Amino acid sequence: MSILMNASGAFCTTTEELKALNDTPETCAIVSKSCTLHSHKGNPQPHVYHDQYGGSINNSGLPNPGYKYYHQLCNTFTKPYIISVAGFTIEDNRTILQHLAKDPSPSYIEFNLSCPNIPGKAQVGYDPEALFKYLTIIRQSYPKPYGLKLPPYLDNAHIVQTANIINSFKPAFITCCNSLGNGLIIDQTTKQPALKSLGGISGIYLKPTALGNVYSFRRLLSQDTNIIACGGIKNAKDVIEYLQAGASYIQIGTQLIKEGPKCFNRINKELNISLH
Ligand code: DHB
Repeated sequence: MSILMNASGAFCTTTEELKALNDTPETCAIVSKSCTLHSHKGNPQPHVYHDQYGGSINNSGLPNPGYKYYHQLCNTFTKPYIISVAGFTIEDNRTILQHLAKDPSPSYIEFNLSCPNIPGKAQVGYDPEALFKYLTIIRQSYPKPYGLKLPPYLDNAHIVQTANIINSFKPAFITCCNSLGNGLIIDQTTKQPALKSLGGISGIYLKPTALGNVYSFRRLLSQDTNIIACGGIKNAKDVIEYLQAGASYIQIGTQLIKEGPKCFNRINKELNISLH
């Protein structure tokens, strides 16, 4: 049984990409690009930069065709289909959720509380009052299974506080975690910032933090809430470590962007060798 899927934002904006992920035998589900109420252009390219050490930085600025594009794909795929929702305002989110609650609905929503790349917009996952408010709106507007995409937490007190709030809503899963916001990578060939601005840091730099977050949340959250791990997973060793920390499923972002959907076949083969 596969436990691998793409991370939102990696190879999942167009129907063709989502179909390719669906048709990759080693994926167990597919996740859409985070979507807003209306289509959104995002930042000028480049959106992602990979450094020589296995780290990456992204700042796409939420380019997406709008939630309706992903909603109308609900009956297209043979695998569980997860729509990532990241409306710009509470009211936008309420509208999106109310529409997605009408059949056909996706298998799950992954509610994104942690986009680090929208200037002037604080990440909801870092603000306990805002988190409670958003979870209340999800409860009111979306009576179907959902998960939460959390930011990486750097202080155990914040993890405990967040887990307590999440336990009073019992989502089906959390995805742990998004990239580490406001990072900078300087490209040593140009001596300039690799992107036009700061961005979310992922890949090898994120892994120990994400692994620690998975481990801590698994010990604090209700067993009704599964943990999908995300953060610097590039091979079977990384997958196994996240399972040992308490994850049930695995999302691949940086490595999928670098290697394409064939990474799922490679990692699955490595897992079959390691686990037998
Ligand atoms: C983008 C980045 C994120 O980490 C996220 O959760 C949503 C959107 C982006 O820059 O497009």
